[in-house]
Amino acid sequence: MPEYTLRIRRYDPQSGEAAYWDEHKVDLGASNSVLDAILKVRDEVDGSVGIRCSCQQAICGSCGVRMNGKPGLACNTHLDEAAARMHATGWNPAQGGEGGGGDVIEVEPMGNMPVIRDLIVDMDAVHWKKIQRVTPYLINKEPVPEREYIVPHENMVDVTQTMACIQCGACVSDCLSMEIDPLFVGPAALAKAYRFVGDPRDAEHYERLKDLSEDEHGLYDCTHCFNCIDACPKDVAPMSQIMRLRRKAGSDHEIEDRNNGYRHEHAFVKNVRRNGLLHESDLLSDSYGGKFHPRAAPELLSSLPTAATALARGKMSLGKVLLHQHKASKEVKKLFDVIDGQTERVELNLWVVGYEDEPDESPGEQSPPNVAEAEASTAPQDKSPTFPAPGVQAQSSSSESEKP
Ligand code: SF4
Ligand code: SF4
Ligand code: FES
Repeated sequence: MPEYTLRIRRYDPQSGEAAYWDEHKVDLGASNSVLDAILKVRDEVDGSVGIRCSCQQAICGSCGVRMNGKPGLACNTHLDEAAARMHATGWNPAQGGEGGGGDVIEVEPMGNMPVIRDLIVDMDAVHWKKIQRVTPYLINKEPVPEREYIVPHENMVDVTQTMACIQCGACVSDCLSMEIDPLFVGPAALAKAYRFVGDPRDAEHYERLKDLSEDEHGLYDCTHCFNCIDACPKDVAPMSQIMRLRRKAGSDHEIEDRNNGYRHEHAFVKNVRRNGLLHESDLLSDSYGGKFHPRAAPELLSSLPTAATALARGKMSLGKVLLHQHKASKEVKKLFDVIDGQTERVELNLWVVGYEDEPDESPGEQSPPNVAEAEASTAPQDKSPTFPAPGVQAQSSSSESEKP
């Protein structure tokens, strides 16, 4: 049986002592979970190790921790998988410690939330507060139907991905925007917001979108770092839900927010249409209506120190800033023409994938994957597709509004 070295980050804020690494050898199989190892240490060696857990089946969302630098559920992460993370990055958390090599697993509390003790973080102080912020319940339309309110199948499939959230906080743990702006509403709460914005029974789609667009820590505060997509053990893809909220706010409801998020997104499109590739130095002024727009002047002035640093570090060159050619290739123009020619925005829910029918038993004659899976197949191939609950098929949802 392999032997793993478990290094647990211990910290008790009330003790007044600094955090430290507590190292233990555990004899467990590779397919045991990290939670098994933590509980073994707690049960057999040191009963004071602080860890929160309940279901041990990736359902309750209470055992979120960071394992070798990546957040996730301790009960849903095999020991070999956690240890392999170190191999993949070449980072050895046990450098200098005993028992280094490939079988060391460092377990830390999740980030962006205060530590209560050891591996237990204060979810109330951050995560749940943000969930409350987005009015996490349905505000029903009137009149309420006498019997059940039947939701069209495609709408139900559309919100299924967000409904898979188990509120573990792994996405919050590694959100880069939240690290810079702790007031950011955050990935889990915004994914929750989409759950109601995508639900036809809810009466306040516009109000929800307007509120989150106008909030300077809201919809447009996400920097598309993908960390939440990577972290989520349930494939909720919070960043994708945020982008869908933005499309609904900007394209469907034409909400021009005071944070300039809507105009900034349109400036991206305009910039690429004109230049072929994103030309960053024009982006700021474009976002404020162009270089000569009165709104752009204070923004350009305030960005001068950043531009000077970028020039000094070679990230920008004056030649490219001033003399670049505004010329997109014919291919880029053609792509824009195709997009402009569409009257309907088609959004594929790339999460709910599967086969239209049961795969044929006979060898070599499997049913072809449906549209969504075909689309999803452009994603990295090493990730197994997620299969829906029986009877749920892949769907696409569309909006009648034109895409920006
Ligand atoms: S993509 Fe946005 S919401 Fe997700 S972790 Fe990054 S900044 Fe946060
Ligand atoms: S979106 Fe995913 S990572 Fe975030 S709280 Fe929900 S299940 Fe956890
Ligand atoms: S113990 Fe419930 S999700 Fe891990």
